[in-house]
Amino acid sequence: MGIIIKTPSEIDKMRVAGRLAANVLEMIEPHVVPGVTTNELNQICHDYIVDVQHAIPAPLNYHGFPKSICTSINQQICHGIPSDKKLKSGDIVNIDITVIKDDYHGDTSKMFCVGEVSPHAKRLVKITQEALYRGIEQVKHGATLGDIGHAIQKFAESNRYSVVREFCGHGIGQKFHEEPQVLHYGKAGEGIALEAGMIITIEPMLNLGKRHVKVLADGWTAVTKDRSLSAQWEHTILVTDHGHEILTLRQEEM
Ligand code: MF3
Ligand code: CO
Ligand code: CO
Repeated sequence: MGIIIKTPSEIDKMRVAGRLAANVLEMIEPHVVPGVTTNELNQICHDYIVDVQHAIPAPLNYHGFPKSICTSINQQICHGIPSDKKLKSGDIVNIDITVIKDDYHGDTSKMFCVGEVSPHAKRLVKITQEALYRGIEQVKHGATLGDIGHAIQKFAESNRYSVVREFCGHGIGQKFHEEPQVLHYGKAGEGIALEAGMIITIEPMLNLGKRHVKVLADGWTAVTKDRSLSAQWEHTILVTDHGHEILTLRQEEM
């Protein structure tokens, strides 16, 4: 199918979907506290997306995924399945929200620190967010995918973290995952050039230990092979002539 350049009216719909996804992360924040289960967070997000936003939670039944959001705790890298396990003080958890509104997807995630979190976990969370921003800074018409990957990898590794390679960002639109694949490592100037009207996600996963991944027996949950902590942040981004527009920006980032 190739990379889809979005029309102005599609871009308008992507702005709406992106804003809704960001709003879910803002809504859920006060609920992410010690003692809450990730199933409870899943239910609150599901009801908000369906009843308040009149949108669709994209993960639910996506290739058989059983829940409406992904919740990835501590050594879990991504695609964690909400469960009846309670969050506890000291946990770090990624909540990944994807909504479909008017046929278009918005995809975003952030890390939450539960209660009192250790300095080394906080640093991983902070550096991973900065790595996302370093990648986003590269996005403009004419830059390459390798520019994005290189900026992220260089920043992550200079901070002594490793970059997960098995999962990547992606084009997004009427489909959850479109071309191209957006790698979070690479060489500047390599790969295809970005064009105004492309919409991609950037969603780096950084590990405190080695980069290697293992997928649990549930078929979804990716964890670090060495069980070290992992963090991820994600935005949906429109490529423009002179830069980019972050479609999933939250109030706290403005
Ligand atoms: N939201 C994830 C992403 O950023 C994909 C989740 S797929 C699911 O691409 F099936 F696990 F929900
Ligand atoms: Co994504
Ligand atoms: Co996502």
